[in-house]
Parts: sequence; C-alpha cells; structure tokens
Amino acid sequence: MSCLFTPVTIGHLTLKNRLAMPPMATAKADEAGRVTQAVCDYYQERARYSKIGLIITEHSFVCRQGKAHPGQTSLAEGADLAAWRHLTDAVHGEGVKIFAQLSHAGSAATSAVTGQAPVGPSAVFHPKQTKELPEAMTVEQIHAVARAFGDAARRAREAGFDGVEIHSAHGYLLNQFYSPLVNRRKDEYGPQSVENRTRFHREVLQAVRREVGEEYPVAVRLGGCDYQEGGSTLEDCVEACRILEESGADLLHLTGGMNGFVRPGHGEPGYFRDMALAVKGKVGIPVMLTGGVTTLAQAEELLEQGCADLIGVGRAIFRNAHWDD
Ligand SMILES: Cc1cc2nc3c(=O)[nH]c(=O)nc-3n(C[C@H](O)[C@H](O)[C@H](O)COP(=O)(O)O)c2cc1C
Repeated sequence: MSCLFTPVTIGHLTLKNRLAMPPMATAKADEAGRVTQAVCDYYQERARYSKIGLIITEHSFVCRQGKAHPGQTSLAEGADLAAWRHLTDAVHGEGVKIFAQLSHAGSAATSAVTGQAPVGPSAVFHPKQTKELPEAMTVEQIHAVARAFGDAARRAREAGFDGVEIHSAHGYLLNQFYSPLVNRRKDEYGPQSVENRTRFHREVLQAVRREVGEEYPVAVRLGGCDYQEGGSTLEDCVEACRILEESGADLLHLTGGMNGFVRPGHGEPGYFRDMALAVKGKVGIPVMLTGGVTTLAQAEELLEQGCADLIGVGRAIFRNAHWDD
C-alpha cells in the first residue's frame, strides 16, 4: 500500500500527500522582484499536472541586501502582494498547498546586484563569491535581518501562502552562521557551540512567530552537514534540529550546507538520507528529505525505510511539469 499518497500534518495544516516540490529559483521575476505571469504559469502548471501536495516557492529575498541574483522574487518591503496573491490563488485552484521560501544571501550576495556591501557572520570570503569580502554583521544588523524575516513572513501570509520556509542552507546567510567554515565570530553567535551557531535562527523564528502567530506553519530548510573537514557534522545537525523544534519550527527540510544541494561523491536517490535518518526519532515534527529522487518508486521506498515524512522532487519536476515518473 502506498505511503506517499497518504496525508501528512505540518503544525495545523494537513497536506493531501507526502510529495513536495522544493524551492527552485526560476529567475523569472522582474527587476523589482515582482512575480510575472511566466512565474505564475510555471507554478500553476506543476500544481495541475504533477502529483505533488505542496509547492515551496523559490527563495525570495527578505531585504534588498539579501538579494542573491537578478530575476529573484521579492517578499521584501514594497513587494507586490497582489501579484503573489494571483499565484497562490492559481495553485490553490489546483488543490495544492503552497509555502514561500524566505532568504537572505549574506556573503553570497554582491554589490552589483544589491547596491550594498555584502554582509556575513565574519569578514571571510564565501567559497563561491570571492570578489567582495563581506563585512561582519553587528548584533544590531542581526536583529534587523531577523525582523526582516518576520516582516516577509507576514507579507507571505497576507499574500495567501499556507506557510513559510526559512532558508538556512546552500551557503546562504543563516547557513553561514551555522557553518564553522565561515563563522569566525567571537561573540554569542560564534562557532563555539551549536547553540551559538543557531542563535540567529532562533531570533528569526521568534520574529516570524511574532508576525504570523503560533498556528501558522513555519518550516526551516537546514543545510545540516557540510561533509567536509572542519565543517558542520551529522551530530551538529541532530542538535540543531532539536533546537529548531524547541524554538517553534513545524517542519525540518534537510539538505546540504556550504556545498550546496549536492553531496560530493553521491548521486543516489535520497543522497542526504543519512542526515534524515539521524534526525528522525530525535524530533517530533515531520522531516522532509530532498535530493536525487527522480521516480515515485524511489520516493515511496525512502518513506518506507523511515527516512522522512515528506519527499521533495526538484529537478525532475523543474524540467517536466507533467512529471509523475
Ligand atoms: C535551478 C535550481 C534552483 C534552485 N533554487 C533553490 C532555491 O531557491 N532555494 C533552495 O533552497 N534550493 C534551491 N535549489 C535546490 C533544490 O531545492 C533541491 O534541493 C535540488 O534540486 C536537489 O533536489 P533534486 O535532486 O530533487 O533536484 C535549486 C535547484 C535548482 C536545480
């Protein structure tokens, strides 16, 4: 009997099944980050023809300094919520739920895109952005970005999203604080403990909860493990997930850290399953696993093995809106 096509509950929200489309940047927004008809059509088509119960939209920047690339969608101040509403209505019309992913690129951003100097936990080059050295964030700047996440979450709710996902993966700002590879701070946000490395995350969760309330679904996408010498480990990932659950997260979406969404030397379906297996049973909230799944049978098998509660299928659906194997 299929497990994939049974309902799953995230906080106060029940999804019709356990198959989700993870966030994937289309870079089709206009210069202001406004959702265009092309973006809307792209999501509506996937909601209509693939078998997913949840779409998590591509990363949207929460403030201008956190914009990663041209064509990125915005949920920052001034975002066009009517355009977003058009999109969420279209997806709901297909019977699919939709979350917005909220993001700040930190030291992966460039002044050419944002018009401002990049910032990060420390003045350390991002492994993939070596042109501009970031400025180390002050505590006031950290608090301001946490508030920007909260404000963006409120806008997402106003625009009709069923929940939000906080992006702390693939080398973006929150991931930079979590990873000892680039976090060299000496203060209470520094790399000395997982508690310190997730302090910013807790402040973001608090700010989001202040704006959207206790019942609104809030997920965290965690780049739990760097899979490299000196980086974050599986043990760190388990501890961080426990902290995030205690701090109010409703769903943990596991993926890679400073290496991005790939895992060097691995391409098998569910190539981050070791993380998910380590976390499952240690937390009470659902776990979502994404990476390498291209068929329904693979997704089903990962669920049956108890690796996760939801499975994400990314590139296969990105390439083919009619994907169902
Ligand atoms: C074109 C493209 C854009 C992506 N954009 C995002 C993004 O905005 N936010 C994010 O968390 N992950 C992003 N990802 C990573 C995917 O969510 C997913 O983790 C990755 O594709 C691996 O899953 P898959 O093997 O099922 O494709 C992107 C991936 C691709 C291919």
